[in-house]
Amino acid sequence: MALGVEAGDAVFTTPFTFFATGGAVSRMGALTRFCDIDPVTYTMDPDKLDEAIDREKRKNPGRNLKAVVPIHLFGQCAAMDKLLAVAQQNGIPVIEDSAQAVGAEFPFAMKVKRACAMGDCGILSFFPSKNLGAFGDAGMVVTNNKKLAEKIGILRVHGESSRYHHKFIGGNFRLDSLQALVLRIKLRHLESWHEKRRMNAEYYNRAFDASGLEERELIKTPRAVYREVGIQNYHTYNQYVIRAVRRNDLKTCLQEKGIGTAIYYPLPLHIQECFAYLGYKKGDFPEAEKAAGEVLALPVYPELESAQMDHVVESIAAFYNK
Ligand SMILES: Cc1ncc(COP(=O)(O)O)c(C=O)c1O
Repeated sequence: MALGVEAGDAVFTTPFTFFATGGAVSRMGALTRFCDIDPVTYTMDPDKLDEAIDREKRKNPGRNLKAVVPIHLFGQCAAMDKLLAVAQQNGIPVIEDSAQAVGAEFPFAMKVKRACAMGDCGILSFFPSKNLGAFGDAGMVVTNNKKLAEKIGILRVHGESSRYHHKFIGGNFRLDSLQALVLRIKLRHLESWHEKRRMNAEYYNRAFDASGLEERELIKTPRAVYREVGIQNYHTYNQYVIRAVRRNDLKTCLQEKGIGTAIYYPLPLHIQECFAYLGYKKGDFPEAEKAAGEVLALPVYPELESAQMDHVVESIAAFYNK
């Protein structure tokens, strides 16, 4: 809303994300233009963005291209150096969907930058399942742009610029004070929770390496991608997501052993019923569709103990060795 997205405008994002990303675009009457993901990080593939922009310009030369929305999925930043270059070349603002990636970092032009600090603005979610979770729903928009910040501040209270005087049509987008109180206190612990999640991810990686399952191509573990030599993405592991052969059976088997897992996301946005009007079909985004059939998120929360992770890895190994 703050970027002035209007009916008929185009907004670029990936189909491998939570519904909210595409829903926000459609509620503005704008048209989501999807581009496929990179199969390693599950985030927007810069070459695919370039192609999608070119295609849109060729097919609909009159259309306004209003935003690019990369998703920092599972706690890892998208390839922001390349994505920003493509967006800037085309003069399109970038909104970082950092709902899952508060505190994630990206090695950017020899400097490390945080999620939300690279694009024109970014969004955070404080839904309870997030690394910084409130006791209910909460979220935030982050920007370094003063003008944009002012407009967002007005939009969040029904577009009210001074008491009962409405400059824009906004909404009730306030963050509840009670949730803010919870978040202020939890924020003090966030860095240590990130570190604990990262240690858990490393523990899983080592245990899976030792299990030989990856070598046998039965599973694939997530890895933080090196963007520049010697510098690693700071992945905050909101989710520790593996790819697994016979994923659904594995999920059921783990459930029976008391291990909760989740599939983010079983059905990509381009083939959701409510987005049929966008005109996409199955097969349009093969990497997103492949990921949807293979991904499985394992427990990675900070309080997890090594014995519990051993139980998860042993149960997965037992499933494949049956
Ligand atoms: C990638 C992504 N975008 C957007 C959202 C929306 O956040 P919220 O549920 O706080 O509205 C979420 C949260 O679930 C998400 O995971």
